[in-house]
Amino acid sequence: MRSEHSAAAPSPGPPERGAAGSATAVAHPNIALIKYWGKRDEGLVLPWTSSLSMTLDVFPTTTRVRLESGSGHDTVALNGVPATGETLRRVTAFLQLVRERAGSGRRAVVETHNTVPTGAGLASSASGFAALAVAAAAVYGLGLDAGGLSRLARRGSGSASRSVFGGFAVWHAGADTGTAAEADLGSYAEPVPAADLDPALVVAVVDAGPKTVSSREAMRRTVDTSPLFGPWAVSGKDDLAEMRAALRRGDIDAVGEIAERNALGMHATMLAARPAVRYLSPATVTVLDSVLRLRRDGIAAYATMDAGPNVKVLCRRADAERVAGAVRDAVPGGTVLVAGPGPGARLLGEGA
Ligand code: ADP
Ligand code: DP6
Ligand code: CO
Repeated sequence: MRSEHSAAAPSPGPPERGAAGSATAVAHPNIALIKYWGKRDEGLVLPWTSSLSMTLDVFPTTTRVRLESGSGHDTVALNGVPATGETLRRVTAFLQLVRERAGSGRRAVVETHNTVPTGAGLASSASGFAALAVAAAAVYGLGLDAGGLSRLARRGSGSASRSVFGGFAVWHAGADTGTAAEADLGSYAEPVPAADLDPALVVAVVDAGPKTVSSREAMRRTVDTSPLFGPWAVSGKDDLAEMRAALRRGDIDAVGEIAERNALGMHATMLAARPAVRYLSPATVTVLDSVLRLRRDGIAAYATMDAGPNVKVLCRRADAERVAGAVRDAVPGGTVLVAGPGPGARLLGEGA
């Protein structure tokens, strides 16, 4: 059913060693229905739990990586602004990993454009690092298949492992035994079989501003200090199994119920962290109330929130305009749009 949502094609082979070149890739954000929250290995970006998401057909990120002759510092521009601080550090560390694998010392010039608000809980790190992984793998000639690209994207941002694929994708936590190399190999995303749900995610942007605590920092604090983290991670295993079954039989009410409880549970873990991390705002709760009213009116509508105040409402595509209207009425100052399942990350082209 999702042939149009094919995974990224393997990169088309190495550019000539020593030759400058560039590659451009596009990736879309994904929204987790079963959340990733917490790493068991920070360096390798290995999660405590497996997660499952839907890649969107809105908010693409486009990233161009150009190789410069000679070594030196990478430069990164995000939406036309030179990156500094944590963003530059993360992108440079990612490129360094790619260079080590490629046996290259060549520096890169990265130009990336998000159409999604950056750092607002709308998964910019997912589209951003999926696009970077595909473009960098191509230009440095890593020759990775889709699973390899997913593992690579994971190293930039965990959620990016899932944006390599279109439609629904599961990111396997992987086994907790064996060597680091084995653990790395076992943690990748792949498409999930789903009956034809014809789903929509109504995205309510109530605040497009950047979060004050990054997802990375917030999940670290949750793992380190929240007494609720362990129980949530355990119940998440059942949530994932039930979610996979609900997707297989195309049961949108079950998919929505499981997604909503898993997301609220995740927020409970961080509210119990010390100090607490709270991303949910009054406008978030207003949207949650409107979702409850829709359900009382017989509409299948279920909410999920990530590391930010913005809400995504899962519903049938046929109900999406009605759901969007109800959400718009609830938060007149917000921006509400309807998203569907979107494509996996892909290469646009490369050139000298
Ligand atoms: P979000 O909810 O947007 O995913 P995160 O806290 O997970 O928020 O990550 C936001 C960070 O991801 C940004 O501050 C930046 O460092 C990185 N990021 C976002 N977009 C890109 C991009 N296009 N290319 C590289 N890094 C990006
Ligand atoms: C709440 O993937 O942004 O959106 O791996 O540290 O970059 P890092 O974190 P990130 O975390 C996403 C958390 C989430 C849930 C999810 O997408 O599964
Ligand atoms: Co993120």
